[in-house]
Amino acid sequence: MTPSGPHAVVVAGARPNFIKVKPVLDALEAAGVRTTLVHTGQHYDDAMSGVFFADLGLRRPDHHLEAGSGSHAVQTAAVMTAFEPLLDELAPDVVVVVGDVNSTLACALVAAKSAVPVAHVEAGLRSGDRTMPEEINRIVTDRLSDLLFAPSPEGVDHLLAEGARPEDVHLVGNVMVDTLLACRERAHARPTLAELGLRPGGYGLVTLHRPSNVDDPAVLEGLLAALGEIADRCPLVFPVHPRTAGRLAGRLPAGVRALGPAGYLDCVALQMGARLVLTDSGGVQEESTVLGVPCLTLRESTERPITVTEGTNRVVGCSRAAIVSAAVEWLDSPPPPRRPALWDGRAGERITAVLVRSLGRRHDGQLSSTRVPASRPIAERDTNPSVHS
Ligand code: UD1
Ligand code: UDP
Repeated sequence: MTPSGPHAVVVAGARPNFIKVKPVLDALEAAGVRTTLVHTGQHYDDAMSGVFFADLGLRRPDHHLEAGSGSHAVQTAAVMTAFEPLLDELAPDVVVVVGDVNSTLACALVAAKSAVPVAHVEAGLRSGDRTMPEEINRIVTDRLSDLLFAPSPEGVDHLLAEGARPEDVHLVGNVMVDTLLACRERAHARPTLAELGLRPGGYGLVTLHRPSNVDDPAVLEGLLAALGEIADRCPLVFPVHPRTAGRLAGRLPAGVRALGPAGYLDCVALQMGARLVLTDSGGVQEESTVLGVPCLTLRESTERPITVTEGTNRVVGCSRAAIVSAAVEWLDSPPPPRRPALWDGRAGERITAVLVRSLGRRHDGQLSSTRVPASRPIAERDTNPSVHS
């Protein structure tokens, strides 16, 4: 396709977004689709942004919105205010948003109001917990999106149950896994463990950054106490997210070693070598499943239940006793490795195949409105909807 052909604006703003856009950008470019990469600036430190561009070989963003940190309203509004005039100027055929961060919602909302079709990668995930800011972002982004790319079948079920048209929903697999599989060998070759004096299988890895875990001092204290008990049996390393860094104030139990936020390849290397992962991260639940490493999710729910039913994850909640007893159990008898179907490294290609079809139709003036219709009662919905893949 020529530069005057279809044009996709791809949005990334926060750490997990950079990892998710890489395979989509690569596949779109391989298919000859013109892409514009927009960095919203939600994450801006080198350790939260720059290192991912270097590790992933992600090209420099074409536009940087410099939205920065703030309350939800301030941050979302900053992204929207900067994205709106840019979108007017770019006039793309589609805006591709990934994941569930504030930048995802902000850009989806601007695009939808500008009548630019929105494609949501990682659609349909639901934790069922609306106290999670990400759950609000997921619900609203999906409602606004024209193309819904689900990583797993339960995502499809949620979308259909909420009234999405089956023809807009595509089961494509998991882009985070695309990047993981593409980078696994490079991560393995890194001297990460040696430089930290760690031996494979000789430590556990911790990541924590959910506001429900780290913003409430009582909850954080219980989690740290649990980590201290586990560290008596298995030393822990803890690359600390900047949100969490402000809350820890140096009070880590013995045996728990804090590091700065890890770069992507280092984080994958740390997961690959870990005997156990303890996390509240969405992406780490998925990656540990694909790497076959036992994972305990320190939350009351997950929007990624497939990592439990078809992976190595267990959701243990946040109570000290429950976390410690699950950790002891899995240190003694780890779960067998398993991997969900379609988590095979080809999600970016599947997404691109759908986008190319849709963009081609739009360019030929044939793209009809594909907006998600108003929710209909279950009885009126197709009982056996076909889902496009
Ligand atoms: C955000 C996402 C969350 C995602 C996480 C990935 C929302 C609502 N939350 O959470 O879904 O799991 O990113 O890591 O979008 N900060 C820095 N340097 C940075 C970025 C942030 O120091 O480069 C600090 C700031 O003090 C900021 C705080 O971290 O206030 C939180 O950042 P923010 O992007 O608002 O939320 P996260 O907790 O990172
Ligand atoms: N990650 C990283 N360094 C870290 C912690 C996580 O590179 O110190 C990677 C991790 O391997 C995964 C992604 O960041 O690819 C997950 O992002 P995060 O946990 O910040 O957000 P979530 O997935 O919970 O939205």
